[in-house]
Amino acid sequence: MGQTITEKILDDHLVEGELTPGEEIGIEIDQVLTQDTTGTMVWLQFEALDLDEVQTELAAQYCDHQTYQFDFKNTDDHRFLRSAAGTYGAYFSRPGNGICHQVHKENFAAPGKTLLGSDSHTPTPGGLGQLAIGAGGLDIAVAMGGGPYYVEMPEVVNVHLEGELPEWATAKDIALHLLGELTVKGGVGKIFEYTGPGAENLTIPERTTITNLGTELGATSSIFATDEKTKDWLARQDREEEYVDLQPDDDAEYAETIEVDLTELEPLVAAPSMPDNVAPVSEYAGTDVEQVIVGSCTNGAYEDILPSAKMLEGREVAKQTEMIVAPGSKQASEMLAREGWTAEMMAAGVNFSEATCGACIGIGHVPASDSVSLRTFNRNFEGRSGIEDDSVFLCSPEVATAAAITGKIVDPRDLADDLGDLEAPGLEMGTKYGPGMGQSDSDIISPDEAIDDGLVKGPNIGDVPIKNGIDAEIGGEALLKMEDNITTDHIIPATADILKFRSNIEKLSEFTLSRVDDTFAQRSLDADGGVLVAGENYGQGSSREHAALCPMYLGIEAVFAQSFARIHKANLFNFGIVPLAIDAETYEQIDQGDDIHIVDDVPAGVRSGQDEFTVSVNDDWEFTAELDASEREREILAAGGKLSWVKQQHTGG
Ligand code: F3S
Repeated sequence: MGQTITEKILDDHLVEGELTPGEEIGIEIDQVLTQDTTGTMVWLQFEALDLDEVQTELAAQYCDHQTYQFDFKNTDDHRFLRSAAGTYGAYFSRPGNGICHQVHKENFAAPGKTLLGSDSHTPTPGGLGQLAIGAGGLDIAVAMGGGPYYVEMPEVVNVHLEGELPEWATAKDIALHLLGELTVKGGVGKIFEYTGPGAENLTIPERTTITNLGTELGATSSIFATDEKTKDWLARQDREEEYVDLQPDDDAEYAETIEVDLTELEPLVAAPSMPDNVAPVSEYAGTDVEQVIVGSCTNGAYEDILPSAKMLEGREVAKQTEMIVAPGSKQASEMLAREGWTAEMMAAGVNFSEATCGACIGIGHVPASDSVSLRTFNRNFEGRSGIEDDSVFLCSPEVATAAAITGKIVDPRDLADDLGDLEAPGLEMGTKYGPGMGQSDSDIISPDEAIDDGLVKGPNIGDVPIKNGIDAEIGGEALLKMEDNITTDHIIPATADILKFRSNIEKLSEFTLSRVDDTFAQRSLDADGGVLVAGENYGQGSSREHAALCPMYLGIEAVFAQSFARIHKANLFNFGIVPLAIDAETYEQIDQGDDIHIVDDVPAGVRSGQDEFTVSVNDDWEFTAELDASEREREILAAGGKLSWVKQQHTGG
């Protein structure tokens, strides 16, 4: 049977398992990337692995999410990241050089290679034929140590694109159209593979806009075949030799095929406050717009910003509206500046941001209260812009710029009719200048150019706690009994005032479960640890590993819950906390403060495949709790967590 592109790349990198959807596979990782908010923990974990250097072909550390410095903690984090990259042999991209996905695409992404990144939009270079997946920090550290990445084999879905986009419809509209049709859950457990004449017509920046937004579908990854356009784009980055031909076989079998006729698409928006709340621009025409931002990892390339510049040539931004351009990379900024477009846009009333995530996560350019902001970004969740009553629309650079010109949401086709002399800007490819022309990679420090001697840690950067094995007797006080649907936000809140301690687990753990009970952390320390009890779906939400790491630091040995969210359960294994399932009746019978102990020898039971454990409550009554774990998860748990497990493998222990 023929293979899809995804299957070909996975086959080439397969270390364990078979390519059967739903089965766990282990794959070799060629490249890794981390960014500044997840990277410190990645490197602290890598340090704990006691390895001398990165084992993957390439690792790159970016500083992009928080480049505006609020206090020394952020600057210290960036300095630590630079020192870690230099010490262990990774590339370091300086703050202001751009957003990880854009800079990685320009400099390192390569067709046929695997990429694992500690950021959810890691799949962006799928537009270049790279199989790229987002993961938690510990998985990145382990991959950098040469370990495989384990993932459930996704279903491969074919998105077959027919025809060409009409004037004023863009790649962003293809992605928004799919979001409207499939919703933000439509891609869970899937990889989207784009094929057909419509896909061949798209340029690389257009393809990477689509693969970037695949994350909003919940997809594991998204990928395009490679072709002359890929080769041409790599040549424009002086990397033509990295081209490889990648096509699905003619008889490749997909789990499902989705047909999209590009000729039927029109300019779209995702209305507040979900990326799948999609409608034609015309539905919101006439809405007052106070702010427009063009940029981000979705539409921050030179080729994304140039259409805005062309539309603004000889025009001005409406007086009631502010327009900001936030390029995805310094390369994009520099190309626009060298060609005079920056000056043109400034003259039209545009303000330029440094190349950073910034506004995308509410750091800078927060909209005014109760106002409309049009952004070319990928997420418009309520409050993400930095203010709770925000009203953020997602759209293409063309739709955003049309709104900047008029001060209102307007279908750019109608604006073109009204103005008479506004042409659809189309797409023009940029070319990176060679070193002799001044365009350089001066903001990327290669491992050979490392300037630090060892790790440089400021006072806010602590050690990563590591647990060796699990106790034979597990139990203690039920320190907290929680209800259903406790999220990772409940366990470790993500507000900026708390997350600034993400490199300092001792400090961060003080906030553990504070949204449920603000005495919890202190009670845990006083009791020398204990257990947690929860209802259904414990740990839903993000993949935040601090939500398992901090409870581990506080001495939590087991969580008894009616059910667990998938990623959080994996994180509990990764940090040596035993996740045990209980039934509703048992949940009702347990009280906070009860003394709960597992009667069986836990490490022996975990190792031998025991899936039911007897648990005693107050030495008064007993219940049965279930452990549902794969063989690998049992090994990890018995070792005390993934860090210890990997260390044992390396030392043969
Ligand atoms: Fe940064 Fe926003 Fe992309 S936070 S990585 S620009 S989704």
